[in-house]
Amino acid sequence: MNNRRRHSSASEKAKEIEAINGIVSGKNILITGGAAGLGNAFLNHFLKHGANKVTIFDIDAEAGKRVELSVEKSCGEKKVHFIHVDVSNYERMTEAFEEAVRLMNDIDIVVNNAGILDERRWEKEIAVNLGGMISTALLAVKYLNRDNDGHGGTLVNVSQHIDIKNTAQLPVYTATKHAIIGLSQSLADSYQYEKTGIRVITLCPGLTETALTVDSPNKLLSRFMKADFVKNLEQLSIQTPYVVAQGLMSILRVGESGSIWVVENGRSPYEVYVPNPRTLRRTYKNNFTLVETKVVSRGRPIREVCDNTRTGLMSCA
Ligand SMILES: NC(=O)c1ccc[n+]([C@@H]2O[C@H](COP(=O)([O-])OP(=O)(O)OC[C@H]3O[C@@H](n4cnc5c(N)ncnc54)[C@H](O)[C@@H]3O)[C@@H](O)[C@H]2O)c1
Repeated sequence: MNNRRRHSSASEKAKEIEAINGIVSGKNILITGGAAGLGNAFLNHFLKHGANKVTIFDIDAEAGKRVELSVEKSCGEKKVHFIHVDVSNYERMTEAFEEAVRLMNDIDIVVNNAGILDERRWEKEIAVNLGGMISTALLAVKYLNRDNDGHGGTLVNVSQHIDIKNTAQLPVYTATKHAIIGLSQSLADSYQYEKTGIRVITLCPGLTETALTVDSPNKLLSRFMKADFVKNLEQLSIQTPYVVAQGLMSILRVGESGSIWVVENGRSPYEVYVPNPRTLRRTYKNNFTLVETKVVSRGRPIREVCDNTRTGLMSCA
């Protein structure tokens, strides 16, 4: 690579960092499940880009306090607050949101991230991944809502990689994560957005190295699925939480309300969209014999999000 090109890519990177700082700097942020894994990587990136205050909600009291203490040592007191709460307990969540507002004065961005993978305890999985995420989303709407003394803001809902062919051994987990796309799409609809002023973004991480994935082979509905599940995992490439958090920062800069973003294989984020089901319609004869299967690639037009060479972001494929 010649010097001029190296210099230009370094200056483009610096511009991107400056643009992200412009979005994050001075903001008050709430992250559920912020004591470990992806949530903790999001926390570190928000701090790096100049967030004013961050509150993390987590069920793991020890890890949460450890994170609070370590940020206090490096960034100073009262930068990060930890609130011990189970996201699946709505009553405690309403108190925790009130406390977060008291501590930060205001909330600008909510990252709805806490989740578990445990098919053996599928009722709990539904309670946390669905109940907890719906609670967080509804409370975010309550506090950020322009119609309710809020000033709008951003809600990020964490779903999962959208390629369901790799999730045959995780039916309940997959159901909860796909429901989050429906939740996001409803809350992002212009009917809601015009009233609330809340931009709703869905983040779909691919396989990422966290406690959730490390333990997953032992948390399936049946132990007979383990070998196939591990074989599937081995075929996928695993990324670090750092890359996903870095991707989220760029998504916050460019993502529109209702947009769905994938970060997989350690690469830059790309946007996907939910196709209009009418364009995927199969037609049958009267006796229900299939006569035609036509997939029309219509729906929301694919957007060039931004100049690829400038930001490294990709438009959807
Ligand atoms: N790791 C992956 O490959 C991957 C891929 C796609 C999506 N996700 C999603 O990303 C999110 C974060 O997962 P992760 O991989 O960082 O997992 P993780 O287990 O490393 O971290 C999850 C955090 O959430 C907390 N938590 C769990 N249950 C909670 C509850 N009831 N109340 C409050 N906090 C709770 C945990 O204590 C932990 O700190 C989850 O929603 C997960 O479904 C993960």
